Amino acid sequence: MKLLWLVLFISLSQFQHAESRYTSWFPNVVDTVTNKTAQITNYVREKGRSIKNFYVENVRNKITNYLGFEKDNSKVPDQTRLKRKFSGYVSDAQTNDNSIFDSIAPVQMEHKCSDEDPTIHMTTPQLLAYHGYPAEAHTVVTDDGYILTIHRIPYSKNSHDKVSPRKTVLLHHGLLGSSADWIIAGPQKGLGYILSDVGYDVWFANVRGNTYSRAHVSRNVDTFAFWNFTFHDVSQHDLPAVIDHIMQIKGWDVKINYIGHSMGTTVLFALLSTKPQYNKILRAGFALAPVAYMTDIKSPIKLLAKFSNNIEYLMKLLGANEFLPQNAVLRWLSKHACEINHYEEVLCENSMFVLCGHDPKQFNKTLLPLILGHVPAGASTRTLVHYAQEIRNDGKFQQFDYGTEGNLQQYGEPIPPEYPLHKITLPIALFSSDNDWLASEIDVSNLYVQLVNPIEHYIVPLKTFNHIDFLWAVDAPSLVYKKLLQLLEEGVSEPYYSITNVNSINSL
Ligand SMILES: *[C@@H]1O[C@H](CO)[C@@H](O)[C@H](O)[C@H]1NC(C)=O
Ligand SMILES: *[C@@H]1O[C@H](CO)[C@@H](O)[C@H](O)[C@H]1NC(C)=O
Ligand SMILES: *[C@@H]1O[C@H](CO)[C@@H](O)[C@H](O)[C@H]1NC(C)=O
Repeated sequence: MKLLWLVLFISLSQFQHAESRYTSWFPNVVDTVTNKTAQITNYVREKGRSIKNFYVENVRNKITNYLGFEKDNSKVPDQTRLKRKFSGYVSDAQTNDNSIFDSIAPVQMEHKCSDEDPTIHMTTPQLLAYHGYPAEAHTVVTDDGYILTIHRIPYSKNSHDKVSPRKTVLLHHGLLGSSADWIIAGPQKGLGYILSDVGYDVWFANVRGNTYSRAHVSRNVDTFAFWNFTFHDVSQHDLPAVIDHIMQIKGWDVKINYIGHSMGTTVLFALLSTKPQYNKILRAGFALAPVAYMTDIKSPIKLLAKFSNNIEYLMKLLGANEFLPQNAVLRWLSKHACEINHYEEVLCENSMFVLCGHDPKQFNKTLLPLILGHVPAGASTRTLVHYAQEIRNDGKFQQFDYGTEGNLQQYGEPIPPEYPLHKITLPIALFSSDNDWLASEIDVSNLYVQLVNPIEHYIVPLKTFNHIDFLWAVDAPSLVYKKLLQLLEEGVSEPYYSITNVNSINSL
C-alpha cells in the first residue's frame, strides 16, 4: 500500500498543476510533514540536508521532469499550457488503451533491479511452496460473475497431522493488496505462516481486480464494465462467495475467524451491516488498521476528496478503470527502487510516508524488492473515489455517491444510505496505532463504541507504528500478532464450529 501513496502523491501533484496551484503545493506538503512528524525532520537532517531541499531534489524535480515543466520555479507554466500538456497525456492514454500512468511511466527501465532473489516474481502459492508449506488455489465465482482465485495453507509444514484443522481463519488484504501481503514477511514473521504454525486452516481472499482475480464470466478485463465496482460490491458479492466456498469445503457448521487489514476491514463492516446473517456464520472479526469512518484523515489522500464530487474528472485523471495497473507503476517505481540503493533508500521510504505515516525503524528494507514485486496488486479507481467521497461527506461510512439524480435512481433517495453499523453483532476486536494516518484514534474509537459485541480495542504500544506496519513491521509478531493469537484463542466465547449441527462434523 505504501506504493500506492507514492503514486497517489504524484497524481495529487498533477491535480494541483491542473488547478493551477502549482506554486503553493510543495511548500504545503513540506509544512504539513514538518509539523506532523518531527521524526521525519530528524531523519532527513541525519542525512545532512534540509527537508525542503530533500523534497525539491527527490520529489518535485522528478515530477516536473515527468510533466515536462521547467525545473526553474520562476517559470511557472501557464494554465493553457498545463491543460494542453495534460490532455496530451490523457489522449495518449486513451489511444493506447492505457491509464494515465502508462503515459507518464518510462517504457524502458533505465536501471535493472537485481532480481537474484527468485521469490520476487513468485505467486502466493509458489511462495508458500518455496518455504515448504502446502498451498492450494481455489476458484470462486461470485453471483455477479467475477472469477476470484483464493489461496489456502490447509495445514502447517510443521504439523504432524496432514489433515486440515477445524480451526479456520480467513485473511482479507487491504486496498491494492493481495493474498501475498500476509506472507511477504516470510515464515517467521508473516501472519499467514504464524497462524498456520499454531494450528489454523488459513485461507486468503483476493478481491476482484487484483493480480489473482482478473477475470469475469462475460466482461473483458479491459472494459469499464469490469472495473465498475467499489468496496461495496466486494462486500456484497466477493466476500459472501468466499465465505460460502470455505463452508462448502469445510462443512456448513464451520465458524470462520475473519482477519482484515485496512480495506479488508471496510468490506467486513459493510457486509455485516447489510447482510446480518453473516454475523452468525463467522466466529469473530479482527480488524487491523480499521477503516470505516474517515473524519480524521491525516494522509494527503484527503486532497483527493476536494475533487470527489467531480467523478468524471477524477476518472479521467486516474484512469477510468483500474487504478495503478501493476506494470505501469512498477516500471515507474522500479526505476526509483534501483536509484534508492544509491540514495540510501531515501526516496522510497520518504515518498511513501508522506501519505501513510513513516516508521523507518519498523521497515525491513530487505523486503523491499519482494514488496515491489507484489504491490500494488490492482484496484478500481471507483474504490479510491468512494473513499475520497467519504472524507468529503464528513467522514460518513456510506455507499457510493452518484450525485443527487444518480442516487435517486440507485437508492431511491437523494443521498447514499449509511451502513447501519448497529446491525453488526459479530464479536469484533479492533487493532489500531497512533501513527496511522488513515485510521485515526478518533475514528477507530468512534467505530468501537458502535459495536454491539466488542472484544477489545487494542492500541499497538509503539508510537511510530503505522498503517502498513501491521503487515510487514519488524516487530509486528510481538506487537500485534501475539495479542491477536491470544484473543483468537481466549478472547472469543464462540466455539470453532456450530455445536448444533453434529451431522456435518461426523461427515468430515
Ligand atoms: C507549520 O508550522 C509553521 C510554523 O509553526 C506554520 O507557520 C505553518 O502554518 C504550519 N503549517 C501547517 C500546514 O500546519
Ligand atoms: C456501473 O455500475 C452502476 C451501479 O452498479 C450501474 O448503475 C451502471 O449502469 C454501471 N455502468 C456500466 C457502464 O456498466
Ligand atoms: C527482514 O526480512 C528478511 C527476509 O525475509 C529476514 O530474513 C530478516 O530476518 C528480516 N529482518 C528483521 C530485522 O526482521
